[in-house]
Amino acid sequence: MILHSDSNQSNWVVIVAAGQGSRMGGDLPKQFMQLGGQEILRYSVNAFQQHVAIHGIIIVTSDQFLNHVKNAYPACEVVPGGVTRQDSSAKGVAACPDDATKILVHDAARPFLSQQIINECLAALDEYEAAAPVLPLRDTIVMSVDTAWQQLDRQTLRAMQTPEGFQAETLRAAHRSGVVGTDEIGLVLTSNPEAQVHLFEGSPDNFKITTSLDLELAAIVAARYRS
Ligand code: C5P
Repeated sequence: MILHSDSNQSNWVVIVAAGQGSRMGGDLPKQFMQLGGQEILRYSVNAFQQHVAIHGIIIVTSDQFLNHVKNAYPACEVVPGGVTRQDSSAKGVAACPDDATKILVHDAARPFLSQQIINECLAALDEYEAAAPVLPLRDTIVMSVDTAWQQLDRQTLRAMQTPEGFQAETLRAAHRSGVVGTDEIGLVLTSNPEAQVHLFEGSPDNFKITTSLDLELAAIVAARYRS
């Protein structure tokens, strides 16, 4: 479904919302939980719908919630998800039109993405094959090596956020490559280490709701983002 039109570009978003939210407890997957009077998924759908350069949104969700999502988001295309996030993302990308030029993949569990992050992601894709918001790490990080621990230099590490954005063919090629990963930038870098990837500063607001503590924090942030 076309939300906005621009003759030069066809920018599509895949929102992955097929997770079961098992780390949170409770019956409802986190993306369907209520937050400030609307479900969590609604925040990111609104953010992309409000952006003039986004042409269409694909929501990937589990069979159980297909009808709900179709009814609740009639302007979006809704497709069934897969067993892993990667499977769900691949199904969403397959549902994007062949002429899509840029594709952004976003976690439904990150309700508070800003228009600025969408802008930066899209703008970077004029030049780079992939782009994503990241944050520096606040904690010291150690890695398990055999039976010991080794400290990593956190100055060289970043935490990835979403939306992760791609020139469409870069993302399609990464999914075709058969590599496995927890996010699409990872797939691109593993399948093509030469890929030109631009990482820019994300926002602490754009956190992923994973635990019940995150949900409490989200209730505070929601007051600023409700629309
Ligand atoms: O489980 P995690 O928090 O890493 O999931 C990140 C995002 O991926 C969530 O929005 C979740 O709904 C989605 N996901 C999916 N399909 C799966 C697993 C997760 O769309 N099979």
